[in-house]
Amino acid sequence: MAKKSLISIQDFTKEEILHILDVAEEFEHNKSQTFLSDKVVACIFFEPSTRTRLSFETAANRLGARVIGFSDAANTSIRKGESLKDTIKMVSNYVDLIVMRHPLEGSARYASEVASVPVINAGDGANQHPTQTLLDLYTIKQTQGRLDHININMVGDLKYGRTVHSLLQAMSHFSPEFEFTAPDELKLPQEYRDFMDSKGIPYKETADLREYLDSTDILYMTRIQQERFTDPVEYEKVKNVYSLNASMLSGVRPNMKILHPLPRLQEIAVDVDDTPHAWYFKQAENGMYVRMAIISYLLGKR
Ligand code: CP
Repeated sequence: MAKKSLISIQDFTKEEILHILDVAEEFEHNKSQTFLSDKVVACIFFEPSTRTRLSFETAANRLGARVIGFSDAANTSIRKGESLKDTIKMVSNYVDLIVMRHPLEGSARYASEVASVPVINAGDGANQHPTQTLLDLYTIKQTQGRLDHININMVGDLKYGRTVHSLLQAMSHFSPEFEFTAPDELKLPQEYRDFMDSKGIPYKETADLREYLDSTDILYMTRIQQERFTDPVEYEKVKNVYSLNASMLSGVRPNMKILHPLPRLQEIAVDVDDTPHAWYFKQAENGMYVRMAIISYLLGKR
């Protein structure tokens, strides 16, 4: 197989997406299959992460691969002024696959162009987070029994939330309906509205969290992305805009599940965790199976 990277969710066809979900389900039933024992994976993280980095490292380990990398670029030669290009060229001489998170939009695409091995985008600024999207899709299918004709209400930071941007593009294969719940300051950027218009995908917008709560299958909550704001005053204005608690769930559909890419702040109260609608911790667990499938696929093994 020619070198293939995963930078945007649009790099995968619908068939490839469904293949990844099928393989991930196999891994959920059989968590350790060490057929990548001759491979080395680099996890290089220029931005903080808990789930993405640890689930990628665990996924690689469960497949028998060895893992190198860093979680703080301050301890690398980037601190001495080395460029991203040189760093990627060096790392790609050492390993078979690179997983990279970086704050700059477009950095992952650039890395894939200079690397001699596949690159997986583990988040590039406010742009894309395609592996989160694949685990979101896996979780939607797991909870709803299908991907087609799902109603998804995306809530919170729709401007800077890269998981929102990747997920709505991926769902375009499956005839979704969307509601977008956000304050004016954090509404979905125009390019994503244009995308949905071009695909004929219906969507409604509101600033009121209660408005569409009772008519949704998936409530996709997101954190307000403090690190993307250039003006701290603007962040202060919106940081507590939504807070979902258990008492607000009395009229929701029985099948409704709450997803969140995590980490959460105050947008989901802890009393929601004990309701049958809370699925975000299982969603994070699913990330490991899905990332096993992605690594295997890009290394030509599944
Ligand atoms: N969902 C997600 O990307 O979490 P981390 O930032 O902890 O990796």
